Amino acid sequence: MDLNLHLPHPARMYDYFLGGKDNYEPDRQQAEQVEKVFPSVRQAARINRAFMHRATKYVAHEGIRQFLDIGTGIPTAPNVHQIAQEVEPQARVVYVDNDPIVLAHARALMTSTPEGCTAYLHADLTGPEQILSAPEVRHTLRLDQPVAVSLNAVLHFVPDDRHPYNVVAALLESVPSGSFLVISHATTDFDSETFDKIQNIYRDGEIPCQFRTREEIGGFFAGLEISDPGLVPPHRWRPDPVDLGDGDGGLARLDAQVGLYAAVAKKA
Ligand SMILES: C[S@@+](CC[C@H](N)C(=O)[O-])C[C@H]1O[C@@H](n2cnc3c(N)ncnc32)[C@H](O)[C@@H]1O
Repeated sequence: MDLNLHLPHPARMYDYFLGGKDNYEPDRQQAEQVEKVFPSVRQAARINRAFMHRATKYVAHEGIRQFLDIGTGIPTAPNVHQIAQEVEPQARVVYVDNDPIVLAHARALMTSTPEGCTAYLHADLTGPEQILSAPEVRHTLRLDQPVAVSLNAVLHFVPDDRHPYNVVAALLESVPSGSFLVISHATTDFDSETFDKIQNIYRDGEIPCQFRTREEIGGFFAGLEISDPGLVPPHRWRPDPVDLGDGDGGLARLDAQVGLYAAVAKKA
């Protein structure tokens, strides 16, 4: 499979922001341009990842045993299955990403407990029917039982002309009530000038990208019951006491330094 190493890719740029080693010169060049206009991007990536950890733990404690994690990223422990299986060793996880380099590293996602199970599917989020009918999904998950669908830091790579709202609706339609939707998403709300620049850097690297307002991101949760505390910057979503910063002044500063919203919602 062509790894397209001459072009930057969001998975490898994110790996760079997280301090990983699975990135190449074009990824680093593009990532450094982002860092120049948005110096807190590494912190934002870590806070996003920490939200994924807490949200996965939360839905596992809510009784979810099956996870469909789309836009997984290059494996960075703990991944979804390690967190979910710590709560429930029988948890079953299907990972999906469209980057061949994530596929090349997928073995690191296959370290399931003996009681549970993990699978990896190379596919594009914009084809939900292909995802839902894939043998990796059909053989790993029971779609008549609740599933947590997680779409962390991926929907902003699906511009409106690729119909992201229909994609999310199709995924949620295929799972029963009691299922959860977990989303984190970059926003223009706190610093539109900087985020317009970042959007253009991604687009210059041929990476489709559309950051959204809180209201637009809220649209992905239409018809679902949003868990407390609602759609908030990820560091405000059920933070661990150690993540609380120095009071609300610290949190408010972080909002602009992170530039993301996040939420968890349940299908009634
Ligand atoms: C910023 S990373 C987020 C990784 C992880 N979900 C997290 O939040 O820590 C975005 C991931 O989405 C993947 N991605 C982007 N567009 C995608 C698409 N259309 N279909 C599937 N995966 C996609 C990228 O390859 C990358 O691995």
